[in-house]
Amino acid sequence: MASNPRPADAQAIDEAARRLADGELVAFPTETVYGLGADAASERAVAAVYRLKGRPSDHPLIVHVLDAAQAAWWAHWPTRAQRLAEAFWPGPLTLILPRRDAAPAFACGGQASIGLRAPSHPVARALLAAFAARGGHGVAAPSANRFGRVSPTRAGHVIDDLGDDAPLVLDGGPCEVGVESTIVDLTRDRPVLLRPGGITTAQLEAVLGERVLARDAAAPRASGTLDAHYAPVTPIELVDRGEIDARIAQLRARGERVALWARAGAGSAADVSLAMPADPELAARSLYDALRALDRSHCRRIVVERVPDDGAWHAVADRLRRAATGSSSRT
Ligand code: TXA
Ligand code: MG
Repeated sequence: MASNPRPADAQAIDEAARRLADGELVAFPTETVYGLGADAASERAVAAVYRLKGRPSDHPLIVHVLDAAQAAWWAHWPTRAQRLAEAFWPGPLTLILPRRDAAPAFACGGQASIGLRAPSHPVARALLAAFAARGGHGVAAPSANRFGRVSPTRAGHVIDDLGDDAPLVLDGGPCEVGVESTIVDLTRDRPVLLRPGGITTAQLEAVLGERVLARDAAAPRASGTLDAHYAPVTPIELVDRGEIDARIAQLRARGERVALWARAGAGSAADVSLAMPADPELAARSLYDALRALDRSHCRRIVVERVPDDGAWHAVADRLRRAATGSSSRT
């Protein structure tokens, strides 16, 4: 029996591209998180992704492409898209664009718009190139976790989550960015940030030469923007650094075992603790791995140090807030 996950050598990548072309699913690494991929032009394959993830069918998927040329098969390509793609593709940026009439609607939850991203991970690029050589136009891929769970940043996480249902998983090592791509909506008069990620608002604005607006009630639905999302099972709470020691003492006095993810120097009384890196990019890289590990540590509660909700910390703060919201509603 072939092992799964499989090291992403040339042979495994070719096998994965063949499977995609045959309408099967393949999980593969990107620089952000692992994706659960399907031929975006195959209705049957895309339906299988929704089924396996347990995702509502009106939540659109991101279509992964090699470059702007492939993107133009799917979407109209305004000047802003060209600028952003030149600056940040391949990389952790998803553009929401008007879908071309000829591009199938099932790839994007039936919306008139479509999310496109050219990932930079060498394995993702090799897979997209091999799939293109077999006539493929793009790979629809949500994060390779069950709906509402923490995204996988290692090949083993995909197996942990999908178990026996996991398709072939290409192992490309731990993801470098560690949180999902930045999503910017270019279908409206002004660019709108739908999801913070590895590319910051300031970086987008510097390239576009205009303000990028915050998401508002009129923004299209994005599952990453549901309040309770990216949540572990153990309840999580965000605590200001100066209050961590007192909060842990209070919880332990109640007899609760406490797990902690905080920067060095706080919370020495926690039962289990992992160090949060002081650098926001490194914190993003280890975020989901830390949440998964703490979730398995048999504690009653996970305390996480609150981080700044802007600049380079924006994406981490956003995911932590959603994780905390998700767990409190389940307590
Ligand atoms: O980093 C990433 O983006 C990862 C890797 C695998 O590329 N993918 C990912 O996919 O996070 P997923 O399906 O977990 O999240 C896709 C997000 C969802 O919030 C979805 O609603 C939004 O993109 N999205 C996709 N197409 C959209 C559209 N046409 N309009 C609005 N939002 C869209
Ligand atoms: Mg996801």
